[in-house]
Amino acid sequence: MEAKEATRSAPSRVTREDYKATSDPALQEAADRGQAKLLSYRELYMLWERQQWLTQELDFSQDRRDWHEKFDDDERFQRMYGLSAFFIGEQKVAEELGPIMRAAPTEEQRIFLCTQIADEARHVRFFERFYQEVGVYDDSELSALLDQTSEHLNDSFGALFDEMLHSRVDRLAREPEDMEALVEGITLYHMVIEGMLALTGQHFIMEYNTSEGVLPAFVEGFQNVARDEHRHVAFGTAFLQEKAEEDDRYRAAIQRTLEESLPVADKVLSPPWAPDDEDFEMFGYTIAETREFAATCLTRRLKFIGLA
Ligand SMILES: [Fe+2]
Ligand SMILES: [Fe+2]
Repeated sequence: MEAKEATRSAPSRVTREDYKATSDPALQEAADRGQAKLLSYRELYMLWERQQWLTQELDFSQDRRDWHEKFDDDERFQRMYGLSAFFIGEQKVAEELGPIMRAAPTEEQRIFLCTQIADEARHVRFFERFYQEVGVYDDSELSALLDQTSEHLNDSFGALFDEMLHSRVDRLAREPEDMEALVEGITLYHMVIEGMLALTGQHFIMEYNTSEGVLPAFVEGFQNVARDEHRHVAFGTAFLQEKAEEDDRYRAAIQRTLEESLPVADKVLSPPWAPDDEDFEMFGYTIAETREFAATCLTRRLKFIGLA
């Protein structure tokens, strides 16, 4: 019951000052009325300078004991879906952002996106360190870890990252002046993948581990990852709000991309082994509760953009 109570008020209970400092509309109740206040691209850059953190400072010794001594085989297996989706998701977004950065039309936007590339690289190293220090696999080399952990993913994950995102980024690499493609790319990257999927998964994973008192260094690092993601999503929201106001073609591009990708993203929220049942509960929360949280956050951001 306690977990359910926490979920119902989930978007407003994320009250950390450093999260709110990012100005992500999902963290502002006023966004329900379309009244959020966003930071400028330059202010988001300045915030990035103040919000640095080190993966190498985290001490995973209790995490290692929890993983091997507290969790049984079943629990370790069930945890692998979330971990794999994040580890590989971070690697993919880190490596796809270059063409998006280059296609962004203003200097202020490009400089911010350069900071985001550095963040995504750090997120990959964070997961790499978790796998290495905890001893998830015998291998410890990055590409071997990514390769092994990929067996836990589902087909929708591949469709979202390797088809939808990859094809748009390829188009931007060839034609960086194609503004409609950039609007589509940022809708998919910042609104759907980071805003809807990553921040939802992070919220529930951190809640569960904290309530169980397990994986403390993982939770600490993941909180920093989530703070970075709120900053990235604030950038995406500001960019899409400007473009939606500028031209109806861009509004249509945002809507089209959401319609195409949201059903796929929805499927990424549940592991391949989970039954197709909204009431199926894993790690303390049902799939329905997870979807509701994702929808509330997305709606707040879309209201700000002027699309909901
Ligand atoms: Fe990330
Ligand atoms: Fe990100």
